[in-house]
Amino acid sequence: MATIHIDGKEYEVDGADNLLQACLSLGLDVPYFCWHPSLGSVGSCRQCAVKQFKDKDDTRGRLVMSCMTGIQDDSYISIEDDEAVKFRASIVEFLMRNHPHDCPVCAEGGHCHLQDMTVMTGHSKRRYRQEKRTHQNQYLGPFVKHEMNRCIACYRCVRFYKDYAGGTDLGVYGAHDNVYFGRAKDGVLESEFSGNLTEVCPTGVFTDKTHGDHYTRKWDLQFAPSICQGCSSGCNTSPGERYGEVRRIENRYNGQVNQYFLCDRGRFGYGYVNNADRPRLALLRDANAEDVDITLSVDSALDRTADRLKRARRVIGIGSPRASLESNFALRELVGAENFSTGIEAGELERLHLMQRMLRESGLPTPSQREIEHHDAVIVLGEDLTQTAARIALSLRQTARGGAVELAGEYKIPEWNAAAIDNYAQGYKHPVFMATVTETKLDDIARDTYHGSPEEIARFGFGIAAALDESAPSVGDLDDDVQRQVADIVDVLKNAKRPLIIAGESLRSNAVLKAAFNIAKAFKSAGLNGSLTLVPSEANSMGLAMLGGESLDWAIKEFARQDADAAVVLENDLYRRLPAKRVDEALDNLDTLLVVDHTPTPTCLRADIVLPAATFAEGDGTLVSQEGRAQRFFQVYDPSYYRPDDQTHEAWRWLHALHTTIEDRKVDWTQLDQVTQEVANAVPALAAIVDAAPNASFRIKGQKIARSPHRSSGRTAMRANLSVVEPRQPQDKDSMLAFSMEGYNGTHEPRQQIPFAWSPGWNSPQAWNKFQDEVGGSLRAGDPGIRLIEPDTDSDSRGLGYFSDIPSAFQLYHDRWQVVPLYHLHGSEETSSRSKPVQERIPDAYIALGAADVETLGLDRASKVRVRVGKHELLLPLRISSRLRRGVIGIPRGFENIPVDIFGEWARLEQEVRA
Ligand code: SF4
Ligand code: SF4
Ligand code: FES
Repeated sequence: MATIHIDGKEYEVDGADNLLQACLSLGLDVPYFCWHPSLGSVGSCRQCAVKQFKDKDDTRGRLVMSCMTGIQDDSYISIEDDEAVKFRASIVEFLMRNHPHDCPVCAEGGHCHLQDMTVMTGHSKRRYRQEKRTHQNQYLGPFVKHEMNRCIACYRCVRFYKDYAGGTDLGVYGAHDNVYFGRAKDGVLESEFSGNLTEVCPTGVFTDKTHGDHYTRKWDLQFAPSICQGCSSGCNTSPGERYGEVRRIENRYNGQVNQYFLCDRGRFGYGYVNNADRPRLALLRDANAEDVDITLSVDSALDRTADRLKRARRVIGIGSPRASLESNFALRELVGAENFSTGIEAGELERLHLMQRMLRESGLPTPSQREIEHHDAVIVLGEDLTQTAARIALSLRQTARGGAVELAGEYKIPEWNAAAIDNYAQGYKHPVFMATVTETKLDDIARDTYHGSPEEIARFGFGIAAALDESAPSVGDLDDDVQRQVADIVDVLKNAKRPLIIAGESLRSNAVLKAAFNIAKAFKSAGLNGSLTLVPSEANSMGLAMLGGESLDWAIKEFARQDADAAVVLENDLYRRLPAKRVDEALDNLDTLLVVDHTPTPTCLRADIVLPAATFAEGDGTLVSQEGRAQRFFQVYDPSYYRPDDQTHEAWRWLHALHTTIEDRKVDWTQLDQVTQEVANAVPALAAIVDAAPNASFRIKGQKIARSPHRSSGRTAMRANLSVVEPRQPQDKDSMLAFSMEGYNGTHEPRQQIPFAWSPGWNSPQAWNKFQDEVGGSLRAGDPGIRLIEPDTDSDSRGLGYFSDIPSAFQLYHDRWQVVPLYHLHGSEETSSRSKPVQERIPDAYIALGAADVETLGLDRASKVRVRVGKHELLLPLRISSRLRRGVIGIPRGFENIPVDIFGEWARLEQEVRA
């Protein structure tokens, strides 16, 4: 800590910060552009100038860039000094010289950092009368819009895109005062993190194109604190709504999880919420009338469904890892625990249970996304993280960059001094080792890569564990080359202060998980201060495994054996999990199939009755992320406000109402908190979820928290097409949030649940500064969510020992290829794939073959390959991989028309067709 004096007042600040960070952390306003809490300082914009004095007697002082000036104990600073004020005003005037001043038509207007800083510096008159420099804009794909004339040349975009996120297709071109930020030529931005440009850019050069089609100013949007449901990373989001549509998603700051950044699936994959084909009314499919759907009133839907379920011999409930804990629990209560299936395929469920045991019994901590960044050696076993848990991949990039920070730190270069670190360290990185089936987008930061089949990756991992700790089971027959690679990696790991092992579900391999566990255990045995990260596949996979229940295979067998004649399926498309034929045959045996979902999935289209469920935007609930963090998402808007006949409700509400219709229940859940409490009471492992967020009675100064900014306009006219009388706003019994703008939206009282970032004078996402304990740190009220899984640090004496079921070496055949799943951020996930802008980014399905196999088979790039796996036959265009090993083919998983049961199987490539 250090003592500094700013404009006559004494403050205690963190001596490791720069002056700008210190001022912002104290709540003092200093304008800035090029500095960003996650990107550090380069001192290029000159906007953050303040006066620094030699001592208390110095009256002249000198101007310094606060972002480039370290803290000196007992120093004297002035933000309000005349010269500093004039200097900052002149800088913004220069920066605005070529700016088009097109705020009224700019999508950034109203949440623009440039607007905020211009107002803050007092620049209000334009004196420049000459011609402005202009640029051509580029087509950058369906997500990001480009308007280069608004650029102030702060360089944040390239620093984020290239240095932070590892992108290669955005750059800066030109010289001195005529620089251009874009691609070498028009084209889709390739980075999985391109959407962050819309928040990183302090002006309107990069804006959200998906929002542009139904644009609303920030102050007119209604928000709620939400959780992304695109993967298991658990990123915090801030969805904005108007007229009953989600109109955009912005990042919501959580200092332990996503911090300032989301991936493009999370940011742009919301369109399915607005799709016109969603079920909005309860439907009865009348088989006698050629499957005509009859819409039902809520009462009639409940009565008729209850009637059918009462008549059933046995009802099985099928839950879902994309539904909340509360909805899954309500289903379990409805059908009874003995009739409840998690809706997860048996192999995956087994691996999820294994993961949970491993997280508890490895004795090692599971790091948050931010904590991942503070390791100094990482080995990734099997996961293509950029495609399966993208935000974790972004953290891993910062882990690697931590090498440069540490190296520079030895020479007293502070962590915030990004330019000096990069100059000094010249790209030095902490070691990251990638063992994957094919090339990945993290290979550029990897010190070494290993490519093999899933079993080979497992063997590689087992080999590392055995080399770290000789009591771990060894792999007898590793190739000499692989043994050398293992030895090199182990040398590095042994010298690391904080090594991390990451594995996950994507290869569907128990062996890979077990190998990762052996490495984690070997870290502990070798006395290393290691950590373990395991990545399940879906937003609530972890939570559902903790809730418990049978596999989907079990349920399907019960139907096939006719041991149950009715099913209630919750937010789950069974065809994405098990072979279509098995699902068809099983569902054919049912008298009643009830589906509660928000998406017209193939399962939903087979249902006898459909009850319209809420998405994340219309309902609340709790999810558990990959690190075991329970987090609550909250309803953004009430759809019935705009469409009075809309019957969308949280699935738990439907299921509970059904339950009370069938039998007179003693419990009567009218509020989310009651359900959450019941889950906590019933499942000890989930007991802490009640603390994932404050309950509905939480108030600040007697008020609920407002969902909309206080400048929100047009409310009285919003429903004028229905009635000119403005009805009372919907009342939210389930949360501490109020619909519309009434309620608390200040920054003085600490709160975790922040629907949108705003503070007086701070309309852009930079306003998060005002909610943090120190800029870029944690929220003052603590970061949202609660950890449910803590490692048993004394696990050596009990629990899981080393695994010894090491798979045998890969068998190469001349006429058969093992099918491994490949993943795509856009295309492999169910709901985001229904969003139109995302659909533009989904590649066509393909078969990937290693270059050696392509040569042996005499294929060329223009080939289509006929793939036979069991009874499936696919004709797919060829992609040549430089890394896939011989005898293995890769096919994207989760894509339309790609069967679910081909992965891990052996394929014959029987025919080649030249396109
Ligand atoms: S495009 Fe935006 S982020 Fe990039 S230099 Fe210009 S103003 Fe800065
Ligand atoms: S990493 Fe996963 S949770 Fe985070 S924004 Fe992307 S899809 Fe959503
Ligand atoms: S913010 Fe300090 S020079 Fe740009």
